[in-house]
Amino acid sequence: MIEKIHHLMQEIANLEAKSAQEAEILRIKYLSKKGEISQLMNDFRSVPAELKKEVGMKINELKTLAHEKINALKENADTASSTDEASLDLTRTPYPTPLGSRHPLTIVKNEIVDIFSRLGFTLAEGPEVEDDWHVYSSLNFADDHPARDMQDTFFVETHPDIILRSHTSSVQSRVMETTQPPIRILCPGRVYRNEAVSARAHCFFHQVEGLYIDKNVSFTDLKQVLLLFAQELFGPDTKIRLRPSYFPFTEPSAEMDVSCTICGGKGCSMCKGSGWLEILGCGMVDPAVLEANGIDSNVYTGYAFGMGIERITNLKYQVKDLRMFSENDVRFLDEFVSAR
Ligand code: DAH
Repeated sequence: MIEKIHHLMQEIANLEAKSAQEAEILRIKYLSKKGEISQLMNDFRSVPAELKKEVGMKINELKTLAHEKINALKENADTASSTDEASLDLTRTPYPTPLGSRHPLTIVKNEIVDIFSRLGFTLAEGPEVEDDWHVYSSLNFADDHPARDMQDTFFVETHPDIILRSHTSSVQSRVMETTQPPIRILCPGRVYRNEAVSARAHCFFHQVEGLYIDKNVSFTDLKQVLLLFAQELFGPDTKIRLRPSYFPFTEPSAEMDVSCTICGGKGCSMCKGSGWLEILGCGMVDPAVLEANGIDSNVYTGYAFGMGIERITNLKYQVKDLRMFSENDVRFLDEFVSAR
């Protein structure tokens, strides 16, 4: 009897089936009520009592093997036949390939770059790991200026002069030290600040910096370029207003507001009733900055501006939580598939 069981085991292990039907025929042959294994069960009755345990275990082993083998044959036959059919139907419409989307910050950055390149600005880049000179000293920050504070700047532990840039204004100085005017550049890039991550603040974000230096550049030029920019970005009815402000690297300095992109200036919850939204800082490049970077301030003047890309993206798309920009949740990113 044991020999017969072993023989069947061998036989079943070597079974093959080309189709699900063939596998079903094998199931009937071995596993149905009148199949070979049921037959063995009948014979089991006449096995002497002292061998029953051993033979019983063998029969169970055989049964499990037969079930597993025949199920596997069926499954293989199923998938084989379905792929066969698919590859044969050459007229079948192909499955659509899911397309990715541009990141919202990239969409808005491209839009900003586009507008300023039409005004003659070219792109410039600088390193994210910078030195104190390019981020602060060359831009007229006093040694004890609060922006240098540990609260704000990420320092490299072993080398306090090396920092992560906290604004893209550092690229201004990188370009000025190697180029004589006319200079007309736009510098998009990532910046870092030592802030606790929340819906309203992040330890890294993105800015675009602009710089124009030439003979006879005036505040009027700055105002006109910024008005044009705002109307291209937010629509032709957009108004701007400049409020006096302070930055170490510009004199005079201003902050620019645009008329609220939601209510158009009437006052709503977005603009907290004021009708205005702040979008950038700007001003005339301080002569001390020109001199520190090797440009003759008696011959040249210039203007500069800087804005946060997240801020502008929030205004355009009402993203409520800054963290969404860096979490890479496809449900968020998919919302921008149709944006340009
Ligand atoms: N660097 C400033 C910041 O990070 C932004 C800025 C303000 C840039 C005025 C400028 C400017 O070029 O003129 O807050």
